[in-house]
Amino acid sequence: MCGIVGYLGKRDALPVLMQGLKQLEYRGYDSSGIGIIYRKKIKVIKEKGKLVNLERKLSDNLSAKIGVAHTRWATHGGVTTENAHPHSGPEEKVIVVHNGIIDNYSRLKENLGKEGNSFLSETDSEVVAHLTEKYLDSGPEIAVSKALSQLKGTYGLLFLFRDHPDLIIAARNGSPLVIGIGKEEMFVASDAMAFAGYTQHAVFINDGEMVILSQNDYRIVNQQNLVIERDVEELEIERSNHSKNEFQHYLLKEIFEQPESVFRAIGRGGRLLPDFGTALLSGLNLEKRDFFDIKKIHIIAMGTAMYAGELGKFIMENLTRIPVEVSDASELCGINPIVDKNTLFFAVSQSGETRDTLAAVQEIQQKGGRVLGIVNTVGSTLARMTDGGVYIHAGSEISVASTKAFTNQVTILTLLALMIGRTRDISLSRGREIVSQLMSLPEKMEEILQRAEDLNVMAEFLKDYKSVLFLGRGINYPVAKEAALKLKEVSYIHAEAYSSGSLKHGPLALISEDMPSVFICTRGDSQEKIISHIQEVRARNGKVFVISNFDDDNLRDLADELFLVPQSDELLSPLLTIIPCQLLSYYTALKLGRDIDQPRNLAKSVTVD
Ligand code: M6R
Repeated sequence: MCGIVGYLGKRDALPVLMQGLKQLEYRGYDSSGIGIIYRKKIKVIKEKGKLVNLERKLSDNLSAKIGVAHTRWATHGGVTTENAHPHSGPEEKVIVVHNGIIDNYSRLKENLGKEGNSFLSETDSEVVAHLTEKYLDSGPEIAVSKALSQLKGTYGLLFLFRDHPDLIIAARNGSPLVIGIGKEEMFVASDAMAFAGYTQHAVFINDGEMVILSQNDYRIVNQQNLVIERDVEELEIERSNHSKNEFQHYLLKEIFEQPESVFRAIGRGGRLLPDFGTALLSGLNLEKRDFFDIKKIHIIAMGTAMYAGELGKFIMENLTRIPVEVSDASELCGINPIVDKNTLFFAVSQSGETRDTLAAVQEIQQKGGRVLGIVNTVGSTLARMTDGGVYIHAGSEISVASTKAFTNQVTILTLLALMIGRTRDISLSRGREIVSQLMSLPEKMEEILQRAEDLNVMAEFLKDYKSVLFLGRGINYPVAKEAALKLKEVSYIHAEAYSSGSLKHGPLALISEDMPSVFICTRGDSQEKIISHIQEVRARNGKVFVISNFDDDNLRDLADELFLVPQSDELLSPLLTIIPCQLLSYYTALKLGRDIDQPRNLAKSVTVD
């Protein structure tokens, strides 16, 4: 789960590579490194910790026209400078940066050890450099092919050779790889974002392919050594906006961007058709009449995207009356998923690079299923591999904890539900109601954000607890799950979500003055029930914080703290109730002095199994 980038061309390679790494830091931030050819030798600079540590180590008088770079999320071997990439062969004739996992590295390492090689790191990747150097007398291309033929596992690999200062070789198996073609310069990376701002011309590499790059040319070959011709794609990728503006953290900035990003999700109104009470999403590659054939919808995703999917289930079942299943993508492949022609699959992902989601999509497609993507990152692997889909247009999300992508995913799932629902079940007037509620969301979100700092009071309480329960019923239950994930992720406080109805079936035993509960309680059929659950918690000395959209004396009396969001249709209420939950996590983490934008052990995108 790492980011790799390579450059060769007319520019100074170091700033290009550093810029690439900044764009790729979402893939891991345990350590980073750069390898260049400098004065006819390979020079490697690497450092553990954030990219800024590497930046400090780079001296101004270094310059090169070729280099490879890496940002790491540790899998094999601890977070140390030695384990940072690039890794070098024994005689420093070749260096390698690697994204993926070499499953058979121990055996390869053992064999190389018997031949006299000694290793400097605990990584699986170092063996690739050693193996390649072993065969280097046959020339770089053959050496790489021979090394690759012995590897089992996943890789996106870049090779740099001391004695070939105009050559980078790249190879892919199971980890993404893309070439960027500039004028008298070439880029290669795990994600086109790495060369955003330099070139928009890209060629995507497939599994089993190797690319031989020089400043003015590239050649793709497959395992049979046959040359592959592939079209150059024009990508509309913008560099991530790395400015925090007036905000202390990206997380807070992104929470505050939600009114604007939801407005973009509804196409600034253009994706909604108020007169017809429906939505219009192009890119699905489906005709309206295809909607009649859908007997089941199956949403696959991970983490926050999966909780967006759970809300999608609630909204879609309500508006379309089609049964919806939501699956944790990492579980799906293992259970041999049932795929049939009347099931429509949606894969939801912010990054479009989540390995588990991609693997599940591959399996479903392999069985003949139709998968549509709901994706944020333009040109990502998921966006390219699905049979159609919708971009959520949240803009670049840098904080590891996902916020605005979540609200945009839920918004898009609502538009889909409306579009399908209007052909099958719901009336024009109900459709119009939903459209007008969607249009009013940004303003309601703004209203909540104006009172953001009020959440400091709840955060001040929460910061001193070891564990917190988040409780909700019906549509509020997935909100509780997402709220619990957010708190865990950024504050490191243990948090658990339950449906409030399930409290008496076990979790109530946890309630005491040491275990606070946050209830998500909105107006609707179950509001009375939730109030009685709150009473049960209070009766056992549990502190109670409530996020609600109705002001009720009973609720005010019961809650230690109450935060009100504006009223809305029940189906859209999660898009409002989640905002105070996000803010609560942020302020709690801030008070605890956590690394809010890059929490320990995590990466923005999980690109390994
Ligand atoms: O990029 P994706 O949406 O596919 O990522 C899925 C999860 O890894 C992601 O939502 C994760 O749970 C977030 N860090 C949660 O804030």
